[in-house]
Amino acid sequence: MTPVAETTPALLRVRGLSKHFDHVVALANVSFEAHAHEVLGLVGDNGAGKSTLIKIVSGVYRANAGEISFADRRVDFQTPRESRAAGIEVIYQDMALVDELEVWENVFLGRLLRNGLGMIERKRMIAEAAHLLERLGLDSLSPTTQVGYLSGGQKKGVAISRALYWDTRLIFMDEPTAALAVVEIQRVLDLIKTLRDRGVAVVFVSHNLKEVLATVDRVMVLHRGQVSGIRDARETSEDEVIRLMMGST
Ligand SMILES: Nc1ncnc2c1ncn2[C@@H]1O[C@H](COP(=O)(O)OP(=O)(O)OP(=O)(O)O)[C@@H](O)[C@H]1O
Ligand SMILES: [Mg+2]
Repeated sequence: MTPVAETTPALLRVRGLSKHFDHVVALANVSFEAHAHEVLGLVGDNGAGKSTLIKIVSGVYRANAGEISFADRRVDFQTPRESRAAGIEVIYQDMALVDELEVWENVFLGRLLRNGLGMIERKRMIAEAAHLLERLGLDSLSPTTQVGYLSGGQKKGVAISRALYWDTRLIFMDEPTAALAVVEIQRVLDLIKTLRDRGVAVVFVSHNLKEVLATVDRVMVLHRGQVSGIRDARETSEDEVIRLMMGST
């Protein structure tokens, strides 16, 4: 089988990205591509630069050097709002869900649907949220449940459905399975594959290499801010990835 990376055009292209915080080099000359219909694993030891990379692409931090292009356009997002408007979402471990609000309110947070008269369309949003949850196989979840009552895995589901609703083309997931129960981890991994099958480009960060190799199409390894290797998931092994994480090739 031909790797996905060779059959679909790149959605995200990163070239020579570097970032330092004072004297700490967080990223050094990082280049890679992410594709629609593909899950790219991003692994590396603590402090390797994974979160920094995500924050630069999504407009949280500014790079010191390098170029980013998204959907064939050179981009330089100044804020997360700008990257979101372009179709890039980030799901962090501590996702920005509001516990006091209901599921549908979280899906439409900051972007409430209004009718022609400017009135908030509550019923429509509840119906849209129910439809989304169903599409993701989360139909046991009611859109009017308060998010504070949900399990960690269900919250990830809400965050993912929010991303899906807003026509997301690229999703970064920074350790979405950390601190979840086994069944919930499986659920999130299945959602990642669902997103991929719907044509989204997914970049998935995890410290669990078994989980990564079972989920991703390609895996990129960072070591002290540098790319130490990019491998087809079917053609590598945990041992090789660990060696790359330690900086050997
Ligand atoms: N805002 C910041 N100010 C100063 N240094 C930072 C900042 N953010 C990250 N760093 C440093 O940059 C390096 C890369 O950190 P980063 O958070 O990207 O690593 P990571 O690969 O996500 O690690 P982990 O697996 O532990 O989440 C580290 O040395 C870190 O201390
Ligand atoms: Mg991190």
